[in-house]
Amino acid sequence: MTDRGAEKILSFENVTAGYGRSDVLNGLSFEVERGEVFGIIGPNGSGKTTMLNTLTGLLRPKSGRILLDGEDISRLPVDARCRRGIGRTFQIPRPFIRMTVFENVLVSGIYGAGFSAAEGKGPAEDVLRFTGLYEKRDLKSGELTLLDRKRLEIARAIVSKPRLLLLDEVAAGLTGSEIETVIGMVVQLKRAGFTVVWIEHILETMLKAADRLMCMAEGRCAVIGVPGEVLASGEVEELYLGTETEALKHAAR
Ligand SMILES: Nc1ncnc2c1ncn2[C@@H]1O[C@H](COP(=O)(O)OP(=O)(O)OP(=O)(O)O)[C@@H](O)[C@H]1O
Ligand SMILES: [Mg+2]
Repeated sequence: MTDRGAEKILSFENVTAGYGRSDVLNGLSFEVERGEVFGIIGPNGSGKTTMLNTLTGLLRPKSGRILLDGEDISRLPVDARCRRGIGRTFQIPRPFIRMTVFENVLVSGIYGAGFSAAEGKGPAEDVLRFTGLYEKRDLKSGELTLLDRKRLEIARAIVSKPRLLLLDEVAAGLTGSEIETVIGMVVQLKRAGFTVVWIEHILETMLKAADRLMCMAEGRCAVIGVPGEVLASGEVEELYLGTETEALKHAAR
């Protein structure tokens, strides 16, 4: 499954984490290789967003370790992890709605990469072109369509050139052709050299864009491997039983 020569960029080692006394992640372990698109699926409440929160520092693990390029980042605060190159989008887009599209990206570059406003202008324009938002750079972000808000989430996450890019359900709520656009963008991100961790409920995105796929259940890794095999596995079918079985069969066909 894993090339012997492949370089690990991220490792979760037996991570336990949760809110208050209840644990959501229960000994989660997996590794991400540099340059891959690593997909994550799992039923609602299986801990996918909690995993991202633990990785970005919004939550501290109770036990276990998270290694980024071999460095233990488990106890670092959010801003320190951001400076080490972890960039993310949010499941619900969070732009500053009164700012323009350009200003939103610029502010992310200033906070994420420590750019001055002058230094940030060029990179902000580059990612606006990359994400197809350049023509809309002077619109207020509150005026954007959902697809454009997803584009903006990605633009804000990549302006500081993170070594690890985390996408949380960027295809959710979109139409079929809009989903194809998002898949195309993720493929472009990979070509541009990003390592992508992509959480998504829409399983066809995983078949089309992910190199490897992990299915989570109850805060652990239930199945991991090539997307087609993971989606066709009995374990995944059982986890999704009664919810998305038909969608799964369709996706794995
Ligand atoms: N801020 C919070 N405080 C308390 N419990 C929370 C909080 N956020 C999530 N949970 C609980 O943790 C569990 C896992 O939630 P999480 O959001 O990680 O799941 P998920 O896999 O991302 O689900 P979804 O597919 O619905 O996005 C759920 O039982 C949820 O209710
Ligand atoms: Mg979630």
